Amino acid sequence: MASIGTPFTSEATRVMLCGSGELGKEVVIELQRYGVEVIAVDAYENAPAMQVADRSHCVSMLDGEALRAVIEKERPHLVVPEVEAIATDTLAELQREGLTTIIPTPRATQLTMNREGIRRLAAEELGLKTSPYQFASSEEEYLAAVKEIGLPLVVKPIMSSSGKGQSTVRNDEEIKPAWQYAQDGGRAGKGKVIVEGFVDFDYEITQLTVRHAGGTSFCEPIGHIQVDGDYRESWQPQPMNDAAKAEAQRYAKAVTDNLGGRGIFGVELFVKGDEVIFSEISPRPHDTGMVTMIAQDLSQFALHARAILGLPIPNIQQHGPSASAVLLVEGESLCVSYSNLERALTDPDTQLRLFGKPQVSGKRRMGVVVARGNSIDEAREKARNASAAIDVTL
Ligand SMILES: Nc1ncnc2c1ncn2[C@@H]1O[C@H](COP(=O)(O)OP(=O)(O)OP(=O)(O)O)[C@@H](O)[C@H]1O
Ligand SMILES: [Mg+2]
Repeated sequence: MASIGTPFTSEATRVMLCGSGELGKEVVIELQRYGVEVIAVDAYENAPAMQVADRSHCVSMLDGEALRAVIEKERPHLVVPEVEAIATDTLAELQREGLTTIIPTPRATQLTMNREGIRRLAAEELGLKTSPYQFASSEEEYLAAVKEIGLPLVVKPIMSSSGKGQSTVRNDEEIKPAWQYAQDGGRAGKGKVIVEGFVDFDYEITQLTVRHAGGTSFCEPIGHIQVDGDYRESWQPQPMNDAAKAEAQRYAKAVTDNLGGRGIFGVELFVKGDEVIFSEISPRPHDTGMVTMIAQDLSQFALHARAILGLPIPNIQQHGPSASAVLLVEGESLCVSYSNLERALTDPDTQLRLFGKPQVSGKRRMGVVVARGNSIDEAREKARNASAAIDVTL
């Protein structure tokens, strides 16, 4: 992209976000800073990114025909996926027809939509270390896979995210329920699962990696804590020894080079001593990367915007120990309100994002606090305390 035009004119640079959650919202804001005309798409009204975009459409993105119709209507120069659950074959067709460009590439969105595609690429083609794994399409195959892998292990639907349908099996009694849970929790209903040997890692990281016009750049590693497969806290920089840090970057480079295109990637890795084990990758901003909103001069969202627009990315400045803590809300409401924000925001170097999600049903991430401190422990404590101080009324 050589130049950026004026929005709402024939010269406008148009970008369509597919998925309009909190990560998309920040991407939209970063694109708006450059005067890009942004169209947000998701399956529900008033999604976070829609609230800051120029226009929005409510479309089931898994419906190929509906997705094609909205892209043909809007003619975006770039389509930027924010979620995995998209009719990625349609995206590939549209790019082949020359109608638009998919970020980072159609193939990256196709391979990461499904755990099987990306796992086979990493382990079998690129030779990266992963957990031992088997795929199973029936209960019989599943039981055989469990025998082969051995306990403890982790079962996940191949099409799912945020820990949905995922369970850890530690004893014989948990084997059957884990299959059932995966069948109920997958995005596409019943189907294939991956059975993974449990990795007894020291810590896990997200290695944010950005492919841009000038090459590939790495952010400092982000450490995080997951509960039920969903992230609760993250921090940057995660302390790592030099060998593990170099290996993490080598793994990230290998996978992102293979997927190609431009933009930010969240490479999820387990680390044990010097050893790095590949877990999975998001070809888009990563939820644990929200910490970069306070930790870096250019957040992962600013980096994504620059990369996809073909703009330069000089050395990424990291501001020292920083952390994020999510605001998780549980219950049922169409009208959530937040108070005691004074208490949450009294500390310096502490910021709050409320996503403006229109509904909560069950558990939902509704906001995040990011903070800086003199140490990772202090930053984490500030973020946690501020998040906990917020009163939520359903
Ligand atoms: N084989 C494994 N061994 C040990 N822990 C694991 C394994 N697989 C997953 N986990 C734990 O579960 C978390 C979620 O797993 P994974 O990233 O595969 O699921 P996900 O549904 O894609 O989650 P998200 O969409 O939030 O990234 C991991 O970050 C890790 O903490
Ligand atoms: Mg993950």
